[in-house]
Amino acid sequence: MSKTIIISNRLPLQISIENDHLEVTPSVGGLATGLKSFHKDGDSVWIGWPGLTEEEIPEKLKGEVQKKAKDENCVAVNLSSDEIDGFYYGFSNRTVWPLFHYFMEYTEADDTYWKFYKQVNQKYADEILKYYEEGDVIWVHDYQLLLVPNMVREKAPEAVIGFFNHIPFPSYEVFRTLPWRDEVLEGVLGADLIGFHTYDYERHFLSSVSRILRYQVDFNEITLPDRIVKVDSFPMGIDYKKFEQAALDHFKNTEDQQSELQRRLNHHLESTPDAKLILSIDRLDYTKGIALRIRAFEYFLDKYPEFIEKVRLVMLAVPSRSNVPQYRRLKREVDELVGRINGKFSTVSWTPIWYFYRSMPFENLIDLYTSCGIALLTPIRDGMNLVAKEYIATRTNHTGVLILSEMAGAAHEMNEALIINPNNFEQVAQALCTAFGMPEEEQIQRNKMLQKRLRRYSVEKWANDFMKALHATRENRDAFKSI
Ligand code: ADP
Ligand code: F6P
Repeated sequence: MSKTIIISNRLPLQISIENDHLEVTPSVGGLATGLKSFHKDGDSVWIGWPGLTEEEIPEKLKGEVQKKAKDENCVAVNLSSDEIDGFYYGFSNRTVWPLFHYFMEYTEADDTYWKFYKQVNQKYADEILKYYEEGDVIWVHDYQLLLVPNMVREKAPEAVIGFFNHIPFPSYEVFRTLPWRDEVLEGVLGADLIGFHTYDYERHFLSSVSRILRYQVDFNEITLPDRIVKVDSFPMGIDYKKFEQAALDHFKNTEDQQSELQRRLNHHLESTPDAKLILSIDRLDYTKGIALRIRAFEYFLDKYPEFIEKVRLVMLAVPSRSNVPQYRRLKREVDELVGRINGKFSTVSWTPIWYFYRSMPFENLIDLYTSCGIALLTPIRDGMNLVAKEYIATRTNHTGVLILSEMAGAAHEMNEALIINPNNFEQVAQALCTAFGMPEEEQIQRNKMLQKRLRRYSVEKWANDFMKALHATRENRDAFKSI
C-alpha cells in the first residue's frame, strides 16, 4: 500500500536527555503543531531531526532514540554538531531565514554554511530514498530543505514530490541578492507542486523563477524541459476541534483541577474589576516584533495613563535558535525593555508586563488563550502565524479581540481582527483602546465570522487540498508526456 513520506528538518517530537534517560516533548513551531494531526490520522512516515546531535546521544541510547521516533511513525535523522552548526544555525538560520523575512542586514553569505546545507539536504534526500517505494507520495517541508526535491528527483525521476514553504518567499529584488539563487530555485523545482501560505509569496517565487532561470511561466505553471511544475497558495489552518475542545475542557475544571497559572490569571481578573489581560505568544525571534510590541505598549501607557493598573501584557516567549547571535541580542534587548518598563510603571499592587521566557505545556497555553481578553500579535514578517488562529479557536464564548499585524500571512484571512502596522505605535495604541471599548456584541459578531472560516479551513483541509493538487500533477505529467 502506498504511503506519504513527510520530511521536515524538525520532527514533531523533541528528544532530550534528563538524568541518563530520554525525555520526549512536542516540538514548538507552526510546522510541527500544524502537520502533527495530518500525520496522526493518515498512513505516513515522518523523517526529521529529533533535536539532539550525534555527539549528544550516548552510544547506549542511540537505538532508544530511533525507537521513540518509531513509536510515532517517525524516523530520526542523525546530524553531527558540525552539521547542525553549518546547516541549521548557519545557512538555514543565518542566510535563508533572515533573507526570506527581509532582514537583509542579518543575512550572511558563507561558503562553508552552503557546503553544509548541500551535505545535509543530500542526507535527508538519501533517507527519503531508503523508505521510498513506487506509488508513494513525498512531501518536503520548509526552507531548511530547499534542495531536497531535486536531489530526490535525480534518483527517482518518476516520484510524486510536493514542497511546502512555511515562511514568506521574498520579492525578486530581495531574493536575487542570494549568491546561490539559481541552485536554490533549481532545487525546489524538483517538486511537482510547490505550495505557499499566500498568493503574494507564490507570485514572488514565480517572478524569481522567470527572471532568474528564464523558464516559461504561464499563470501558475512553470514549464521545464521535461515536466510542468505547478505553484499554488494553500493557507495553513489549525486543528480547530482540538483547540476548541481544550478550551471547553479548561472551563470545566473545578478549582482543585486548575493549574497554578490558571489560578493566578483568574485572581488577577477577579481582583481588578474591568481589567484586561493582553496576550502575546511567540518563539523569541526578531521577525516576531517582540521588542516593537513592548515599545508600543510603553507608548500606549504613556499616552493613556488611565489604563495603568487596568491592563497587563502577558508575554510568553519560547527560547529559539539561541546559538545565532541576533537571537541572543534580542533576548538581552527584551530582558532590558521588560525590566525598564516594569520599573517605570509598576505600582505596589501591579506590574504591567508578565514575561515568561520558556516553553509551556499545552494546558498552560490554553489557560493563556482563554484568560486573555485581547491578543496582540505584532510580527514584522511572518509566513502565517498560527497563534492568531489558535487564539480565536479557543474563544468558545466568542468574546475577545485579536489585534494582528498586517505583515502576518494570517492577516489575509482574518479581516475581522483589528489589523495594524506594527511599526506605527499610534495605530497599535488606538487598536488597544478600540479593543478595550469594543462592545461584547461586536466582539461576538467578529469572532463568529473568524471561527466559521477557521473551522472550515482547518489543517486537515489544508493538507487534503495540497495532497489532492499533488495527485492531480501525476495526471498532468502523463498528459505532458503524450504531447
Ligand atoms: P512559528 O512557526 O514561526 O513558530 P506560529 O505562530 O505559526 O510561528 O506557530 C507557533 C506554534 O508553536 C503554535 O502552534 C503554538 O501553539 C506553538 N507554541 C508556541 N509557544 C508554545 C509553547 N510555549 N509551548 C508549546 N507550544 C507553543
Ligand atoms: O515556521 C518556520 C519554522 O522554521 C518551522 O519550520 C518550525 O516549525 C519553526 O519555525 C520552529 O523553528 P526551529 O525548528 O528552528 O525551532
